[in-house]
Amino acid sequence: PHRIIIDTDPGVDDAIAILLALASPEIELLGISVVAGNVPLEATVSNACKIISLSGCVDVPIYAGAPGPLVREQVYGKYAHIGAFSDTLVPPASVRPQEEHAVDFLVRMTRQAAADNDPIVICAIGPMTNLALALVQHPDVARGIRQVVSMGGAFTALGHRTPWAEYNIYADPHAAQIVYASGVPVVVMPLDMTFQALITEKNIAAIGENAGAAGAAIAGLLRTFDRSDMQRFGRPGGPVHDATTIAWLLEPEIFEGRAASVGAQVSGKTAGYTYADFYGKTGLPMNATVMNGVDEARFLEMLEERLSIYGRG
Ligand code: BDR
Ligand code: CA
Repeated sequence: PHRIIIDTDPGVDDAIAILLALASPEIELLGISVVAGNVPLEATVSNACKIISLSGCVDVPIYAGAPGPLVREQVYGKYAHIGAFSDTLVPPASVRPQEEHAVDFLVRMTRQAAADNDPIVICAIGPMTNLALALVQHPDVARGIRQVVSMGGAFTALGHRTPWAEYNIYADPHAAQIVYASGVPVVVMPLDMTFQALITEKNIAAIGENAGAAGAAIAGLLRTFDRSDMQRFGRPGGPVHDATTIAWLLEPEIFEGRAASVGAQVSGKTAGYTYADFYGKTGLPMNATVMNGVDEARFLEMLEERLSIYGRG
């Protein structure tokens, strides 16, 4: 199986990514490192605990990490994530976070993976502060990471968080740039691709019905998120950004991507802007594969199929 760590700021779509990973026998989830992002750290940690409790996989350890970005002032996510994890929708957690700091956990696990010659995959679905701190403190950490699958960035589908930037990169552009420049191969899941796979009420209703005791919570979470932005998408439905990182590990053939040199603008009005150099114009290393297409029908079918495992008791 793919041995992975999910670095996350739950987050409605983060929750779906975690539940999809836990529903997939091809994936071994080694732990969850949590960062501030969509909501403050206390809430992202509490939400992570609720998701793990909901999944029933209570042995997956959760680690609290960075409470804010490296350099810039803190910016939280959109209002949709706040209140989504109310006790009425997602029952209170039965697990608690570990004592160890998320950055120490990342360092420990990646160094061990390097020593075992069995590097791990990091699915980074929030601001990349934890990962950047691990890489800066201990550059040898890079040798223990097979690849970073990063939900973040926007190349043509601009106008999300600012006219230039996608939220995860905007929230900590310095961290993103550290990860991009670390030498670890990065698989980039930008808005350009995540905006192509919109979940509709029909899919959500099916998931709600089939996912048993977890169904109401999963459907409820999905219903709170980005679903009626007709102006942006021109059709009903909303993206499930973070879940694409897990879907790519499971079925890479349903995605299209191109090699590029990717970097982030760290300051000024355009902070968080990501560029992709597909033609080697910058002379910088081709550090990334940028995804630009996804088979929407198959992605949604995968969510429906896989999440139904929670209904099987
Ligand atoms: C990203 O920002 C967050 O709001 C989501 O959880 C996702 O990781 C999308 O821009
Ligand atoms: Ca997220």
